[in-house]
Amino acid sequence: MNILLIGSGGREHALAYAIAKSPLCARLFTAPGNPGTARHGRNLPELAVGDHAAVRAFCEAARIGLVVVGPEAPLVAGLVDALAAAGIRAFGPTRAAARLEGSKGFTKDLCAEHGIPTAAFARFTALEPALAHVRAAGAPIVVKADGLAAGKGVTVAETVEQAEGALRALFAEAGTVVVVEECLFGEEASLFALCDGTRAILAGTAQDHKRVFDGDRGPNTGGMGAYSPAGLVTPAIERAVMETIIQPTLDGMRARGTPFTGILYAGLMLTADGPKLIEYNTRFGDPEAQVLLPRLASDLVPALLSACEGDLTGVALEFDTHRAALTVVMAAAGYPGAVVRGSTIRGIEDAERDGALVFQAGTRAEGGNLLADGGRVLAVTALGDSVLEAQARAYAAVARIDWPEGFCRRDIGRRAVAREVAGHGI
Ligand code: AMP
Ligand code: GLY
Repeated sequence: MNILLIGSGGREHALAYAIAKSPLCARLFTAPGNPGTARHGRNLPELAVGDHAAVRAFCEAARIGLVVVGPEAPLVAGLVDALAAAGIRAFGPTRAAARLEGSKGFTKDLCAEHGIPTAAFARFTALEPALAHVRAAGAPIVVKADGLAAGKGVTVAETVEQAEGALRALFAEAGTVVVVEECLFGEEASLFALCDGTRAILAGTAQDHKRVFDGDRGPNTGGMGAYSPAGLVTPAIERAVMETIIQPTLDGMRARGTPFTGILYAGLMLTADGPKLIEYNTRFGDPEAQVLLPRLASDLVPALLSACEGDLTGVALEFDTHRAALTVVMAAAGYPGAVVRGSTIRGIEDAERDGALVFQAGTRAEGGNLLADGGRVLAVTALGDSVLEAQARAYAAVARIDWPEGFCRRDIGRRAVAREVAGHGI
């Protein structure tokens, strides 16, 4: 079958790598794609993903049997709805179901209705009542914009003054809706579930590193590195998350007439009272996909097809449970602020010769060279029998990449490695 993948990041390169391996995949197209996805199929830089009629026309002309949507923006824009209406099989949630990511308030209401463990919250449409709430509740307290903000609309305020400042900044824009939350304490981990509208199967666990600098300092980013599995998420915690968070969410979405099909990515806080939901994303993570998919031992494509068909009965995603994966993101100097584009990257082949997988995100091919063309540029991934081994291999691969204008964190996997050294295994 011919498959169309939507997106152009490191996650899409990892998806292209996993999809192209499937014996079910005849031809893979990626729109728009990047030089990494071009290694696994044909890129379609000219196909405007926001033009649903154009995507549909391409699918019909190229006899596409499955569309896989990587990023959130086309989901929230309703690409899956438009394709489904034309009878084209598309993996990912409808626009209504993608509200689990697009609206924090929507998700909080669903949690409240279905008893899903999450931080206590209140929602505000005006500044004064929000200020009064924060003053009464005290700090630490969390202030979030209600909408897609790529992780940047969140302030974990250590003081009431900081929370007030965050509220003033958010309410400076008209029509703002703000969610104010209790601050949760614990370690964060992510769990991925493949959903068919009714049921879900586990699609792995991971931990990412959101802050730009070593030691979790500096501003938040899309993610500077990740590893999988998240050792803290024991099989008992996995079961608890599937039973108390994921399944009630699917039940609630179905009851609302907006069943969820796709990847549900639960950002969790592992608190002393058990796992609690911080937020949902409705897609694979980036760079989490770059550590989940290389560990996948089973074929991804039939599982995605079964989810689209609404029947995951008998389907399982088998992960290489004895292997850990770790990815180090190499970003352009200045990220997450303004970056300079156009510097030359060399050495990817050397890194890959040693067994690493170098997933490309913000890159561009020009005149036989590979150039940096974005903030996050590469995700250098390695596998190992432990996170420690995967970490050593990933950093050895990073050392082979010749790109003086780039930088990376030096401590990806630090906490997991410390736990391993203390004798707790992967
Ligand atoms: P979000 O975009 O909702 O995932 O939030 C971004 C980050 O803010 C999370 O990864 C957490 O580190 C932090 N965060 C969000 N909500 C809370 C909360 N209720 N308690 C503590 N930290 C939080
Ligand atoms: N790594 C965070 C995300 O994909 O949202």
